Amino acid sequence: MGQYRPLSAVVLAAGEGTRMRSSTPKVLHPIAGRPILLHVIDALTALPLQRIVVVVGHGAERVTKTLQEQLATEMPVEFVEQRVQRGTGDATSAGLTAFADDFDEDDVLVVPGDTPLLRPETLAAIAREHRSSDAAATLLTAVTHDPDGYGRILRDKLDRVAAIVEQLDASPDELAIQEVNTSIYCFRRGLLMPALRRLSPENAQGEYYLTDAVGVLRAAGHSVTAVIADDPTEAMGVNDRAQLAEAEAVMRERINTRWMRTGVSMTDPSHTYIDAAVELEPDVRLLPGVILEGRTVVGAHTVVGPDCHIVDTIVGENSVIRNTVARDSEIGDRCSVGPFAHLRAGTRVADDAHIGGFVETKNAEIGEGAKVPHLAYVGDAEVGPRANVAAGTITANYDGKDKHRTKIGADARTGSNSVLVAPVEVGDGAYIAAGAVVTSDVPAGALAKGVPARITEGWAARRDEKPTP
Ligand code: UD1
Ligand code: CA
Repeated sequence: MGQYRPLSAVVLAAGEGTRMRSSTPKVLHPIAGRPILLHVIDALTALPLQRIVVVVGHGAERVTKTLQEQLATEMPVEFVEQRVQRGTGDATSAGLTAFADDFDEDDVLVVPGDTPLLRPETLAAIAREHRSSDAAATLLTAVTHDPDGYGRILRDKLDRVAAIVEQLDASPDELAIQEVNTSIYCFRRGLLMPALRRLSPENAQGEYYLTDAVGVLRAAGHSVTAVIADDPTEAMGVNDRAQLAEAEAVMRERINTRWMRTGVSMTDPSHTYIDAAVELEPDVRLLPGVILEGRTVVGAHTVVGPDCHIVDTIVGENSVIRNTVARDSEIGDRCSVGPFAHLRAGTRVADDAHIGGFVETKNAEIGEGAKVPHLAYVGDAEVGPRANVAAGTITANYDGKDKHRTKIGADARTGSNSVLVAPVEVGDGAYIAAGAVVTSDVPAGALAKGVPARITEGWAARRDEKPTP
């Protein structure tokens, strides 16, 4: 019978990922807004592990920094550098240097950093099988009609795993084998260490292959078992951009299915793109062409779409957001935004407000029940509750040197095509006439009209001479 041994994990992420043809290390390419490697580590942290050791090398500093910033776990994650990438066997040896030599009665999962679709259930199944069979090594294999690129599993007459042969080293007969190595293993650490010392780089790639450890263990009389993956896509390694897109499609489908199960409607899930960190409440309805990125949150009963690109934005309940681009913004409850609105960073739309077509906002607070129904630019501004900003109103926030704020009071109304030259304040309940250019504060309840477009010759040159106070 198997026995309990402490379990840890080594993640191999030092390779360059040459086939990606990218200046970004392969494992940092995002899938559903989260780097590939973080998906792998997220799956691992769902297991009761002692520790996770990540082997970094190519772009080590960037990889380490990204992980430290984005990890969401209390589990100890350590980094070991593999300075020269001499193969997966060498990388595993590097990873094992993080473990103490004296206590080696434990198990270690070895996982590549490029398999973002791996599920915790599968990792747990491998560990379970490993313990109950008491094998020296347990590998996850997959049976596929397209084994191209993978190592092939060689079995002996008793159908036990005998060895793994890499594609470039395989004979034509071996190439026909459809059972492949997923590169996901569980080892007895105390047996893996001496096996790694016996690897040789005499192969097509001149590398120390971790896959050869299987043959070494068998030759030393140890048993090796295999778990065949139920779903081979789960073990898919991302090596190039085509596989990146394939993995992305699978991940998105998973995310969409999960949200639909919690009560989110999607008219067309195949045209709905939701990042891993997005949160949706029940009865949210997503129309085709919706892209929700980063830490976006959408409240219950809100309808988004068609064609919205929403990044790091919090949307309240019962709102309607149509054909809109929004970033780093907040939208309240019962709001209506779009079609064709552009909410730039720092926009806060309070409850019951309305932002209409061809309106751009930035660093702006739109008060409760306020309306900006069409064709306006509201930047570095506050719009009071129930105020109405008419078509063509512009907050002229930039004087060519600095940005200034505009304040529009509660219940105020601007006229069509008015320009509010900041810094300026329009008092509560004030009116701005159509076409007015407002250059000084308007008291509460007043009317401002007319265009003070008098000409001052030589002004720009004189301004440039003056030192700014
Ligand atoms: C590997 C397996 C292959 C398996 C496939 C499954 C070997 C020799 N081959 O091939 O049997 O079918 O995965 O996806 O193991 N890495 C390092 N340091 C190195 C080399 C690689 O850390 O010196 C890391 C890479 O960053 C990567 C992982 O190990 O995350 C696997 O390396 P990769 O080059 O992608 O191996 P494959 O050719 O895919
Ligand atoms: Ca790979």
